[in-house]
Amino acid sequence: MICKAAIEAFRQIETPFYYYDMELLHATLRECSMQAAKHGFMVHYAIKANDDPRVVEAVRSHGFGVDCVSGGEVEIALEAGFEPSKIVFAGVGKTDAEITLALKAGIGCFNVESIPELEVINQIAGGLGVTAPVCIRVNPDIDAHTHKYITTGLAENKFGISAWAFEELVAALRAAHNVRLKGLHLHIGSQITIMEPFALECKRALEIVARFREAGFDITDLNLGGGLGVDYEAPVANPIPPFAEWFGTVAANLPVAPGQTVHFEPGRALVAQCGSLVSRVVFVKNGKDRNFVILDAGMNDLIRPALYGAHHAVENLTPHEGQCRYDVVGPICESSDTWGEDLQLPGTARGDLFAIHSAGAYGQVMAMRYNQRPFAKAYYSDEIIK
Ligand code: LLP
Repeated sequence: MICKAAIEAFRQIETPFYYYDMELLHATLRECSMQAAKHGFMVHYAIKANDDPRVVEAVRSHGFGVDCVSGGEVEIALEAGFEPSKIVFAGVGKTDAEITLALKAGIGCFNVESIPELEVINQIAGGLGVTAPVCIRVNPDIDAHTHKYITTGLAENKFGISAWAFEELVAALRAAHNVRLKGLHLHIGSQITIMEPFALECKRALEIVARFREAGFDITDLNLGGGLGVDYEAPVANPIPPFAEWFGTVAANLPVAPGQTVHFEPGRALVAQCGSLVSRVVFVKNGKDRNFVILDAGMNDLIRPALYGAHHAVENLTPHEGQCRYDVVGPICESSDTWGEDLQLPGTARGDLFAIHSAGAYGQVMAMRYNQRPFAKAYYSDEIIK
């Protein structure tokens, strides 16, 4: 919930902007870290969800590691002071320059997504005279029942190495003398709100571990990726995602052998709910059949509704008398620049402040300058509330 003092402070700030509730962020990080500790699980924050320096610093302060998907993210994580050994690096198209950077930094693990990548890492590591720690990202072929664009674990997706390539993989690993196999990496998708896919993921992981064992490899690290969903419908009622249920499901379905560590890579679950996109009403336009509330925040500031048809709760923070049905839209010249259609809202006037909720994950990081709009700034509750 956005408190009255924050709303008062918002009146002085140029809109649109991202607002981060630091108290909620810390509460979420504390809960995740406490639930993970119960099982001895290790959590790496998927920094792609939000790389704002204050958000990243909060994550670091709770002792998390980082999951990166580019050289740029590895650099940000290092600059933010994460221990290199707590950095894991995934991505289907790691360039030679990115691999070199990560090897020189001494990161904890490469999550390797193809046999050619394994060969290139081996070659570059050899040239540098180092050994590259790797997990093999396996495509588990599991349907996570989420949006098509954020499903990653199906055989048809580009991610990971599929089971049919196992023999070839084993041969490549045996030939890769500058690579040390630590374990497996799986990630089945994002915004997953039911636990069954995670239970199935554990089953797949166990099957694959058994195959590696038979081939003579010792598997010490099991990284199950991220994907825990958040409540976009009722963010105020459900601000903290069900970490206990997620980790509990894995603990119940994945017997961990002595010496093995289980890793996770949540992004959205840690940061989505602490962020809001705050906007002002530029105009209220009454049409023949519809009334439009036109905000100064657009799809360039938060692309999720336009790109995935995602729902974000919209709230008038400075409401007036009465109720009315409105289409709430942005200023961009695209019809998909819409925050919600036919919404029942309180009376709304020019100058009102709106919050678009759950914007902390995949909001600011995916911003762009379409229509020559400037990047929106970020503000933090502990800096603006007196
Ligand atoms: N690990 C890997 C290997 C990933 O690819 C991802 C997300 C994560 C972890 C973190 O997933 P999370 O816990 O956040 O679900 N832009 C989209 C989401 C793309 C997710 C990409 N990979 C959205 O706004 O819904």
